[in-house]
Formats: sequence, structure tokens, C-alpha cells
Amino acid sequence: MSEAPRSPLITLNAVEGQTPKAVAAVKPQLQAPAPAGPEGRSRLPQPQTRLPMPSTHLPLPTRNGASKRKQDFTPDVQQTVGGKKRKADAMRGAPPPKMPNIVRRTASATTRPGTRTAATAKPAVGRPPAASRAGASRGAAAAKTAAVSKAGGMTRSNSGSTIPKGAPVKKRPAWDLKGRIEDMEKTMRSMQSEKEAITQQKEEITQHSDNIQQDLLTLQRENTTLRQRVNEAEVTLRDLQSKNRNMEDDLERVNRQKKAVERERDDLESDLQTSRKECQGLKGTIAQQAAAQEGIKAELQLRNSQIETTNIALQAEKGAVASLQAELAEARDKIAALDRQLQQAETDRRVLHNTIQELKGNIRVFARLRPLLSPDGNAANDGLDDIPHFDWHDGNILELDRAMDGDPNETMSGFKRTESQKIEFSFDRVFAPSSSQGEVFEEISQLVQSALDGYKVCIFAYGQTGSGKTHTMEGNLEQGPEQRGMIPRAVEQVFRTAERLRGKGWEYKISASFLEIYNESLRDLLDSKSDKKMDIKMKDNRGSKDNKTNDVHVTNQVVVDVNSEDEVYPLLKKANKHRAVAATKCNDRSSRSHSVFQLRIKGQNSLTSESCAGMLNLVDLAGSEQVKKSGSQGKQLQEAQSINKSLSNLSLVITALSNKVGC
Ligand SMILES: Nc1ncnc2c1ncn2[C@@H]1O[C@H](COP(=O)(O)OP(=O)(O)O)[C@@H](O)[C@H]1O
Ligand SMILES: [Mg+2]
Repeated sequence: MSEAPRSPLITLNAVEGQTPKAVAAVKPQLQAPAPAGPEGRSRLPQPQTRLPMPSTHLPLPTRNGASKRKQDFTPDVQQTVGGKKRKADAMRGAPPPKMPNIVRRTASATTRPGTRTAATAKPAVGRPPAASRAGASRGAAAAKTAAVSKAGGMTRSNSGSTIPKGAPVKKRPAWDLKGRIEDMEKTMRSMQSEKEAITQQKEEITQHSDNIQQDLLTLQRENTTLRQRVNEAEVTLRDLQSKNRNMEDDLERVNRQKKAVERERDDLESDLQTSRKECQGLKGTIAQQAAAQEGIKAELQLRNSQIETTNIALQAEKGAVASLQAELAEARDKIAALDRQLQQAETDRRVLHNTIQELKGNIRVFARLRPLLSPDGNAANDGLDDIPHFDWHDGNILELDRAMDGDPNETMSGFKRTESQKIEFSFDRVFAPSSSQGEVFEEISQLVQSALDGYKVCIFAYGQTGSGKTHTMEGNLEQGPEQRGMIPRAVEQVFRTAERLRGKGWEYKISASFLEIYNESLRDLLDSKSDKKMDIKMKDNRGSKDNKTNDVHVTNQVVVDVNSEDEVYPLLKKANKHRAVAATKCNDRSSRSHSVFQLRIKGQNSLTSESCAGMLNLVDLAGSEQVKKSGSQGKQLQEAQSINKSLSNLSLVITALSNKVGC
């Protein structure tokens, strides 16, 4: 046959789980040797150079990409190489290749049928595959036959000659030299022919060895190429693996995004559900509102018709309003005229009031009888007015029964009693023991009004200790409003009247001060500093138009502006507190000192431009005692002397005032 020697079939054995690097495990499989040509020369199989190339269409990166590639790669190679080759041979009708008839005792001796040789990329032609081993065995058998024929063809005689094996051994007699020479010549020819055969075989083997060398070089080159391809494939593989990882990362990220989007979608769906429910609710509300709107519309129409009716009535009323406005203007004029008359009347009232007060007497004296007190200090509940030695008539006469008070034979002055034992005292008003604080203040209030009208009013409480002076002037604020004395009631009236007169244009500024006179020295009860220097001064008003109103004032005195009665009560409490502190130093000081509560009242009328400056003095005098009777000594005597001195001077002043002296 003219066909070129075939290359050995190279199989790429890829083991499951290994990379395609297993392509390095190339196991050359020698095909059965081609039958000897007509020349009788054996043909050695040549390495197949058409190796399968790794598919350039690499599989898409998947999780099992590596194994997929292996599966794709190895079987393809086997099928492509083996299958195609055999198919081509069958097409050509070529007989199966046969092993060359090479006698290799070493190979046949070391290689047993069925033994696998670890093959590398280097083709191992010395050991044919199992398929070709039969041929090789046959070759070996042929060689063996040749050796046997050689051994059988010639047997060495004891004499050293060689006798062909199988030939009838016929021992030539020693003398048959010719026969023996003939045998030797036969042997020589046989060996000659054997030598030629061996020489020929040697040439064939040499030739075969060259071919093998050639094949080896070819295989090495192919191996190098394959290695390069493998390297390139590895690079591509790494690249693809990196891409695969990137894609896996991308996939993971996309999955996370997908989950987030799914969560968002779920939230949105729940929101949508909620919104739908709200929408349903709103729809219901809208329906209700629409129904209500219809009702409102109907009501609106009704109201509109009512408005129209009212408008008609309004038009009729407008005429009436115009006439009423004219009447109103007329009434306003009348009111203004009446206001003017009222203002004039107020002015007249003031004048008349104070004229009456003057007529009543600028100096008035009231007597208040204190009820008898029970041993616990409280007034007896019944029989208040039952005081044996006092009697009162017509509200202003107080009758004292001398016989019932002290020595009936001795007068109050200590003289011998010669006349009637009853004596009458005349007062502007006598208050019975049962009379209340309110009844007493009823008389006082007219004087308080005079202070608001710009007069200087002074109210003294005079009497011996325990007669009820402090009770009358201050009262007891804690026992209820009924027990309030003259000072709180006067304050209340001042502010109430000032508020009432505000409507008539009067604006009042009121200030308060509280003094104590003890042993002829002054003390400010609204100031905690007890050692403050204070003096009584008279303001010289001789240069002024009204030089009759010489003003007596106390220097360095605390004067507090007050706007309501509520601002005055704390001042009264403060004064009582300071008096109580002083009382610890001097026994019963409150009854041994004079206290003077002063309200300065300044009024301004913006309508009539009138003004006034009044003053209200409420004085709780010290107890008046007879030094002789009380038996005072030392400090108490000095106190009593100071008290009596001041009371005596006061009586002189009052007498002078009553006589209009110096006024
Ligand atoms: N009109 C009165 N009704 C009831 N109790 C009175 C009356 N006057 C005074 N008292 C009581 O008599 C006591 C002495 O009165 P007080 O005002 O302290 O006397 P004075 O200040 O003159 O020394 C007090 O307990 C007081 O409550
Ligand atoms: Mg008192």
C-alpha cells in the first residue's frame, strides 16, 4: 500500500475532578501494525499529528463550569481522535495496521500482555498496546521460529561441527572426510543465508529507529504546542474564573437588590392595602359628606329665603333705625347735659357734705362701751349691754352711776360726794357694748369721705388700757370680715369710693405710712430698721397762696404707694409684726405707745380740672392711766409721764381746734 505510515493514536486521559491539564497524560496507542508491504517491510505507526484542539467555544461560566469543561474536553478528544481515525481507515478500506515484524527479545521478555505502561507525552513505541500485542507476539513467535529453525537446523557436534536440526543425524565415519566437508559447506551456506537475513533485519530496524526518532521529534513539537495551548487555556480559564467570580458577585449583589426590592414591594403592597382601606373609608365619608351637603344645601336655600325675608324686614327697620339714631343723638346730648349736671352735683355734694360735717362739728367725740369680758378674755354672749354703773340715752348721753364705780362717797376727782350720785356725759354718739364694728364705722365713714374730698381727717381712739381702742381701730382680721376695725374698713371705703369716682373723672393716688410714738420718740413700723432717726417737721408754706395749710410731716419715713386694699393689709401685718418684736423688749409696749396709720389721698379730675389732697389719720393712742392709781414706778412711771404729757398736749390741741384758735 502507498499509504503513509500512521501516527500512533494519542488519547488524552482526563481523570474526573482534574483540570484539563491532564492532557499531559498522553498515552500513545500503537495501532495494529500495517501488513507488510509487497517488499515485506514492516510499517511502523507514526504519531498522529492531528490532535484535537480545545473548543474555543468555552462553556458559559456556571457554578459547575470547571467540571463542565472537563466533560466537554476529554470525551471530545477521544471521540474525535479515535473515532474519526478509524472511520477514515474504514472509508479507505485500509486493513488494520499491524505491528512490524521486529524481533525484540527484550521487549517480549519484559512486556506481558495486559500490562499497562505509564505513558508520558514521549511516545513509547517499545511497548505496543494490547490490541497490537497479538501481532507483536506473532512477530516474536516468528523470530522464535527462526531461532528454533536455526537451533533445529544446526546441531553442534561434539567435534564442534554444526549439523542442521531435523536432518537425519548420520554419523560419518572418521574417514569420510568428504562427507564431513560437505556437511560443513552446507552449514556454511545456511549460516551465510542467516547472516544475510540478519543484516537485512538490522537495516530494517535501523530504518525503523530513524522513523521513531522522527516521530519522537514530531511528538515533542506537538507536545510543546499543546503545552502552550494548555497554558493559554489556563490563562483563559483563570480569566474566566475571575469573570465568573465577578459575575457571581454581581449575581449576589443583584440578588440582594432583588430581595431589597422585594421587601420594598411588600411594604408598598401593605401600604397600598392600607391606602385602599383608607380610600374605602374616605369614600364612605365622602358619601356621608355628600348626603350632609345635600341637607346643608336644602338648609341654605331655606336660610336664603329667610334672609330675603329678613332683608325686606331690615329695609323696613332701617327707617326705624334712622329715627332711633336721631333719638339716640338727642339722648346723648341729654346724657352729656346730665353728666355736666352730675359733675356739678358732685361738686355741690362735696361742698354740702363737708358743710354738713362742719355743721356737725369738725371735732366729734364718740363713746364706745366695751362689753364686760368673761375671765377667758372674750365678751359675754348674753347681756352685753348690761353694765351696772353705765346707762345711755337717746344715743348720745352716757350716764355714769358713781355709787357703782369705786367709792360712792368720793367723786372721780377724789372730792367728797355731796350731790346726786349720777353724772351725765354728752357725746356726738354713744355706742352700746353690743354695737358692732360696722355700726361704729357708719359714723366714721362720713369722715373718710371728707378725706377723699380733700380734707384732713384725724380719728383718735382714746381710753385706758383694755378699754377697746386697738379692737376698735384695727379689729381682728382673722376672725372674719365682721370683726375688721376702723383702719381696714376705712381703707376699703377709700379705694371703693376712688373707683366709683373714676367714672366721674377722678383719679386718685393713695400712699400709706405707719408710725409709732413711744416715750416721745418716733419709730417707723413699715421699716425693720429700729434705730432710724426721724423728726416731726412743719413744712413752711407761708410763701404759697394757701399759707393756712402748713403741712406737718415726719422726715425719713417710709411711704408706700398703694393701688388697692389688698396692698394695704400686708402693711398692717408688717406693722403689727414690728410692734410685737418691740414688745418683747418692753412689756405691753403696744398699750404704752401711740400708733399712727396715715393715708395720703391725692385726687385729680380730668373732666373738671379739680384737684384735692386729703389725709386720713387713724390713731390708736396709748392707754391713759392715773399714775397715782396704777402705782407705776421707774420706767413705767416715765412711760406714764410721757403718755400723759402727750395726751395733755393733744387735749390742748383739740381744745384749740374746737375754739378755732390758730386755724
Ligand atoms: N367692743 C368689744 N367687743 C368685744 N371685745 C372687746 C371689745 N372691745 C375690746 N374688746 C376686748 O377687750 C380686750 C382689750 O381690748 P384692747 O383693744 O386690746 O384694749 P386697748 O387697746 O384699749 O388696750 C381685747 O381682748 C378685746 O378683744
Ligand atoms: Mg391697745
